[in-house]
Amino acid sequence: MADGDLDFSIRRLGECRVPSPLSGVRFTGDDEHVLHHSRLEEVRGWIARRADPPAMEAAGPRERIFFDPAGLACGIVTCGGLCPGLNDVIRAIVMSLHHHYGVRKIHGFRFGYEGLVRARGHEPVLLTPETVNRIHQQGGSVLGSSRGPQDPAEMVRRLEELGIGILFAIGGDGTLRGAQKIAEEARRRGLEIAVVGIPKTIDNDILFVQKTFGFETAVAEARRATYAANTEAEAARNGIGLVKLMGRDSGFIAAYAALVDGHVNFCLVPEVPFSLDGFLQALQKRIERRAHAVIVVAEGAGQDLLAPPGGSDASGNVKYGDIGVFLRDAIKGHFARAGIEANLKYIDPSYTIRSVPAGAHDSAFCLLLGHNAVHAGMTGRTDMVVGFWNHQFTHVPIPLAVLRRRTLEPDGALWSSVLASTGQPRDMR
Ligand code: F6P
Repeated sequence: MADGDLDFSIRRLGECRVPSPLSGVRFTGDDEHVLHHSRLEEVRGWIARRADPPAMEAAGPRERIFFDPAGLACGIVTCGGLCPGLNDVIRAIVMSLHHHYGVRKIHGFRFGYEGLVRARGHEPVLLTPETVNRIHQQGGSVLGSSRGPQDPAEMVRRLEELGIGILFAIGGDGTLRGAQKIAEEARRRGLEIAVVGIPKTIDNDILFVQKTFGFETAVAEARRATYAANTEAEAARNGIGLVKLMGRDSGFIAAYAALVDGHVNFCLVPEVPFSLDGFLQALQKRIERRAHAVIVVAEGAGQDLLAPPGGSDASGNVKYGDIGVFLRDAIKGHFARAGIEANLKYIDPSYTIRSVPAGAHDSAFCLLLGHNAVHAGMTGRTDMVVGFWNHQFTHVPIPLAVLRRRTLEPDGALWSSVLASTGQPRDMR
């Protein structure tokens, strides 16, 4: 999509006539926007034409709101894979609804969108400041989660039965697509239901969102694995530490793990293709020169080298082959054939990087996301997700956020820094 076609306008349920009960805060004006581009050179064309460059609505509390908090009921649902900070976001939403706006009826739906389908039999739980008070200290989601879509008509019927005015959907692109369908179905039926997403993905791959919550915590956890890999590699003759990290189609976790730990010598990500031979030759050179090496591979990297296992998960993601095990065996075989001793230690931290409680910075980030989601929902904004862009909280229309997954740019500054840190060849094809 061309930049000029980016339409960041957010759908609203109607006019905001109710004065906000908040006091002592700086209200955000509806005319406040955050630029999509942050560099002067990128916006020069628009300035020359005296046109507004693409920009997103700034998030924050508004002076007038759409919903009357008295009698308003809200719902919260967490979907997809786990992520550090889910409970922090749930808590922040409940606290903000209760304390900022005086909303008293907050339903927590169990096990993702399944919880919105009556026939599934999961009764929603009532969330109060008391019940959520300590949940941010635990990993996971107190509501439970699940993958996969559900029938929008049935979900909207359930929301209507419960008199829900705002649904907060915490999840990745699949969840946001589901949220979009719920918003559309509610509109089709003439119901005043706002649907606000909070972007959650450990892979940090939501479009127009600079950083998703839990990502920093996951990278911090991944550091334990790269530390162990390097310790093992340095202590053995021709030691090789191989770490596989999450990252289906986006290698942000692997890239940042490499930047965090300067001992990583090879970082393999889905966005940058390599050949097995190109990689093994580069690894052999490194071993001959330095007698140890640390490799980080994202789970979605090098899939063209593997036989696909076939099928897809409940979210519709095509199942990937195990690149970690494949590389482990390929490296062992290569050095054996070359008659070079090599001691490889394979570490797959797997779910351990995403099932932990959020770290300090992520916790604060979650709280701010939750508050901004509530402010947006109270104004009747719908079919939107709270974003973070150029270090400010924003509103992003869901149709834009789900256009495709955000990926690392192989010719961008981040990947260039990864190459500078690891010292691996730019091209290993
Ligand atoms: O949410 C993204 C992700 O963390 C991917 O990196 C990974 O492929 C997937 O989830 C695994 O989650 P699950 O096994 O729960 O489906």
